[in-house]
Amino acid sequence: MSNDRILEELGVYSSHAPRYTSYPTAVQFHNGIGTDFAKSCLQGLSIDKPISVYAHIPFCERLCWYCACRTQGTKSHKPVAGYLKGLLQEIEHLRKMLPEGTKMGRLHWGGGTPTILLPEEVTILADAIKSVFEIDDQFEFSVEIDPTLVDKDKISALSSAGMNRASIGIQDFDTKVQHAIGRLQSLEQTADCIGDVRAAGVQSLNTDILYGLPHQTPESVEQTLTQVISLDPDRIALYGYAHVPWMAKRQQMIDEAALPDGPERRTLFDLMAERLEASGYDPIGIDHFAKPGDTLSKAAASGRLRRNFQGYTTDSCDTLIGLGASAISKFAGGYAQNAPRSSHYLRMVSEGGLATQRGVALTETDKMRARAIEMVMCDFKVDKTELEECFGPLAQTLDKNIDDIILEYGKFVQPTDTGFTVQDKQRALARLIAQKFDAYSGEAGRYSAVS
Ligand SMILES: C[S@@+](CC[C@H](N)C(=O)[O-])C[C@H]1O[C@@H](n2cnc3c(N)ncnc32)[C@H](O)[C@@H]1O
Ligand code: SF4
Repeated sequence: MSNDRILEELGVYSSHAPRYTSYPTAVQFHNGIGTDFAKSCLQGLSIDKPISVYAHIPFCERLCWYCACRTQGTKSHKPVAGYLKGLLQEIEHLRKMLPEGTKMGRLHWGGGTPTILLPEEVTILADAIKSVFEIDDQFEFSVEIDPTLVDKDKISALSSAGMNRASIGIQDFDTKVQHAIGRLQSLEQTADCIGDVRAAGVQSLNTDILYGLPHQTPESVEQTLTQVISLDPDRIALYGYAHVPWMAKRQQMIDEAALPDGPERRTLFDLMAERLEASGYDPIGIDHFAKPGDTLSKAAASGRLRRNFQGYTTDSCDTLIGLGASAISKFAGGYAQNAPRSSHYLRMVSEGGLATQRGVALTETDKMRARAIEMVMCDFKVDKTELEECFGPLAQTLDKNIDDIILEYGKFVQPTDTGFTVQDKQRALARLIAQKFDAYSGEAGRYSAVS
């Protein structure tokens, strides 16, 4: 039987599974976790290790139909300015709770569109965040940039604030595809933006592109890739388009008849991956590519690749503090998510407290399963030696999962003395195999297609 046929029987073209940017996933978050939990986690942070900070800016001037991110469209700047005030209030609450001397190793601004902020607002927000922490020597500051909503002044303000990494949204350059997903953006506009970001001294640049979009063909994605590669990004995230119209209502604008089916999606991905590898990019995890000298490639080669809410990362900080509406913080004891609606978030921070609304406390078993899932998603293998070193005899409770995986995935999984390796880094299988370690996977939740 061909590999494709076997993968079909294993459910690769018909299955849905989490992308495991956290474990447990957000489906397990509940309202029993609130501000008291977040406050005690913050107060208990160790100052020995740097932490990461994420600031969420949930506004866009355009609302692309394909986009599943939590964001709201606005043509007026008033709600953005009001939201910035809320962020500053949240930062002040944080200041009162953090142990003095807490170090920040990473700062990431995402959205939505962080570059909707005016240059002076960029400076105000960055200064406020930095004033709460000591800055680690290895500090990295990355920002998600929409090339249609940025200019030299904003880039200059970001660069002065310390931005040294940037991620540029592209998705696809084909105009038929762009019209079908409600997102128009020319190569020239994108190249100009990248030129400005590079000129501002940003050395590490990522671009996001998608496969599985309406009207994409092998020829059209080949052309898009030629254009993307001409922009010379250091990293490329090649995400599978997640069609989840029950969650992201604006995706109802997308013509489902024009979407590639499961095997077509896989063909597109394989072609694109092949082309990227032939152009000198190393494959990283299930959906990233990076130049060999890039820190992501080096981390992947040495088993130091990690996975968090931003996807693949070299970030090894144990703690992530999320600022803003819907932002998720990760502490040793669990996850804490802020109120998702901006209005609710703003009310909570203006009433004198944090804005945590839900989350989940982590047991030792959760932490161990999270690490096993991360190993599959990052390294395409599970090594019980490491799990035993960290979790002791508890690691033996995974033996049945490991045996089941080896049995079910047959030739795609090679048993080893200490676990298994996924053969040929079968990316489409990784989410399904990771799901076998998910003790909550039988519970409600609708996810995107795995391939
Ligand atoms: C916050 S968004 C984009 C940042 C910025 N606002 C822009 O438009 O360039 C971050 C990334 O999420 C990815 N994304 C959004 N919706 C998606 C979907 N439905 N399926 C897969 N990836 C998606 C896109 O690749 C996008 O660049
Ligand atoms: S892709 Fe970017 S600009 Fe478009 S809706 Fe999503 S976050 Fe906003």
